Amino acid sequence: MILLGVNIDHCATVRQARYREAPAACGGAIEPDPVAFALLAERAGADGITVHLREDRRHIQERDVWRLRESIATRLNLEMACTPLMIEFALRLKPDSVCLVPENRREVTTEGGLDVVANRERVNDCVSAMTAAGIFTSLFIDPDSAQIETGAALKAPWIELHTGAYAEAFHSPRRGAEFERLCQAATLAAKSGLSVNAGHGISYVNIAEVRQIPHLHELNIGHSIVSRALFTGLEEAVREMRARLNA
Ligand code: PXP
Repeated sequence: MILLGVNIDHCATVRQARYREAPAACGGAIEPDPVAFALLAERAGADGITVHLREDRRHIQERDVWRLRESIATRLNLEMACTPLMIEFALRLKPDSVCLVPENRREVTTEGGLDVVANRERVNDCVSAMTAAGIFTSLFIDPDSAQIETGAALKAPWIELHTGAYAEAFHSPRRGAEFERLCQAATLAAKSGLSVNAGHGISYVNIAEVRQIPHLHELNIGHSIVSRALFTGLEEAVREMRARLNA
């Protein structure tokens, strides 16, 4: 059984489109509430809730994360940049896991994987601090053998394979090669003792192939589920993705 982590960032994107300047992130007329959204996702079968607290706070706010920590019944996965400020925040928050991602203010969404080879020391410090605090670390990396080998050497328990290049190539002749890259990366990661998650650009269409990547433990899916929820409601959107994931 492959687990489903629901990324709720884009619920907060809708709120921020209207209430960016509001002093409080919730209450009164301020909607939609990402915490209520997370609880509904859990009721529909989400195995975990993922949020990305970006440096520019474009969607999820700190207060959302604290409220989620107190409210949800499954697991809280905090996506974050590998910076001293975020490490300090995570150690206070104590999420169940952190997923280290690269961050670039100009990007629309996380564009590439974290380069753990080039940032080995920084990543090592973060993994050690999280492990000492009982928090699992996942490294969001491209399906590349050097990244995976370094991730294993840094003793991160999990990786999350970046499926963005595959998703972009889905309707092109490169799709087969990108899928093969993901399969090889997952095989190498599992052999190296890493637990394999994946995410980015996964949809109701490409899930049929993505779920065949070997050794998958959990997928983190956001945009496609939130988009579908506009038409079907969130519970139906989560239920359907979960059913397709384990069809
Ligand atoms: N995993 C990671 C590490 C991400 O940064 C994102 C995007 O925030 C996702 C998964 C979810 O991607 P999508 O919204 O395309 O499903």
